[in-house]
Amino acid sequence: MNDQKFSRPNAETSVFGSEQMLQPAPTDRIPQHATTPEIAYQMVKDETFPQTQPRLNLATFVTTYMDRYATKLMNEAININYIDETEYPRVAVMTGRCINIMANLWNSPEKAQWKAGAVAIGSSEACMLGGVAAWLRWKEKRKAQGKPTDKPNFVISSAFQVVWEKFSQLWQIEMRTVPLTLEKPTLDPQEALKLCDENTICIVPIEGVTWTGMNDDVEALDKALDAFNQKTGYDIPIHVDAATGGYILPFLQPEVKWDFRLKWVLSISASGHKFGLVYPGLGWVVWKDKKYLPDVMAFSVNYLGANITQVGLNFSRPAAQILGQYYQFIRLGFEGYKAIQYNSMEVARYCHEQIGKMGPFTNYSKEVVNPLFIWYMKPEYAKNAKWTLYDLQAKLQQSGWMVPAYTLPEKMEDCVVMRLVFRQGMSRDMTDMLLGDLRAAVEELEKLEYPTQTRLAQDKGEKVKGKVFTHTHTGKPYNHH
Ligand SMILES: Cc1ncc(COP(=O)(O)O)c(C=O)c1O
Repeated sequence: MNDQKFSRPNAETSVFGSEQMLQPAPTDRIPQHATTPEIAYQMVKDETFPQTQPRLNLATFVTTYMDRYATKLMNEAININYIDETEYPRVAVMTGRCINIMANLWNSPEKAQWKAGAVAIGSSEACMLGGVAAWLRWKEKRKAQGKPTDKPNFVISSAFQVVWEKFSQLWQIEMRTVPLTLEKPTLDPQEALKLCDENTICIVPIEGVTWTGMNDDVEALDKALDAFNQKTGYDIPIHVDAATGGYILPFLQPEVKWDFRLKWVLSISASGHKFGLVYPGLGWVVWKDKKYLPDVMAFSVNYLGANITQVGLNFSRPAAQILGQYYQFIRLGFEGYKAIQYNSMEVARYCHEQIGKMGPFTNYSKEVVNPLFIWYMKPEYAKNAKWTLYDLQAKLQQSGWMVPAYTLPEKMEDCVVMRLVFRQGMSRDMTDMLLGDLRAAVEELEKLEYPTQTRLAQDKGEKVKGKVFTHTHTGKPYNHH
């Protein structure tokens, strides 16, 4: 339709009777003319319409349900920029309180009124800050000793989340990985120490490994590292990537030592927007003591009646998530968090048990230690099956569920698994519905006369690399290896 004929919509124009609804959506250039808010709203809303319902997205760790009041509070704060502390000093105070609460949940020994920590947009930023602090501390020390600082490295298991690859590449810090195997599915402390030297800035165990849901044994690592540091004279610290576990362990397994109770754990990061129960994006990083947060990373403001330290990669960021987090702390309290995490874990365990009983499948681990788990096809079943877990993923998608299938990291990349993450909002009833759809999908797949495309590809030895690699976080095809 050419411009001359274009009639401008007005208040009387009905949305679906408007000319815009006959036009393709803008893809490269800003439209010449304005339109009514009703039409613009409908067009944008409809772009998202065919997507999965967020609560049926069982691939993500990120919060997809908050109550009415939390949602109202966050919507009301949508126009507040966190960085404008002069204008919104109460947001800064609330941030400090949240950092204190996180630090104490992680058994911080720090006595100061305001603990050393930072708000982040998610675990990625929080991990980066923890990593950068470790690097700067190491650099300072090496400089003071007159030693070179050009070859830093850090050690992590091969089941690292992609943020650590970013950290390595953006800051040019070598990433040394300890390969996992089916027999050794978490970070082996002795293997990690074999990769350490005078240039190691830190070791990064993971609580709530993205790929498997398991926990690295930080206590065992700390013990082995203590002996190693004594023997070598190094003082290699630990940064715990507790994206998931940081909000699970304090409530469900407070006796497990993985946090600041351990000698070499100097910093911890976690996602407020995962089991912190806040909508994206929110993360936290906390240091054991101010002295572990290099001055060059910290910007202190003293005009708030308190000394609040600001650390972050971004300058502006939304304040609403901080209000959401503080609301959840007040609304739920320790017991409320515990009840929600307990339910997510119970439902995960129930589903784990049910899937473990299904003929074609084996669970990857016997126990469920975070509210997520993975399973794979029994090798003896897989030999004759005409389908793969990628087909099952596609089938479940037809009923609205997003359950990702993907290959495990290096040394285990032949193993295709499926993962389910149970968050607040996934009840026993919904799990039964999911299980019903899963059983029905398997039944249909078992009736296939001919093998599916992914099955043929596997038979031909075309490893499902690249094409059907699946992002562990979103379940979307992904290609980072
Ligand atoms: C262990 C781990 N670290 C870091 C991240 C990155 O977190 P975010 O998405 O909050 O940036 C994730 C996300 O799944 C994770 O599982």
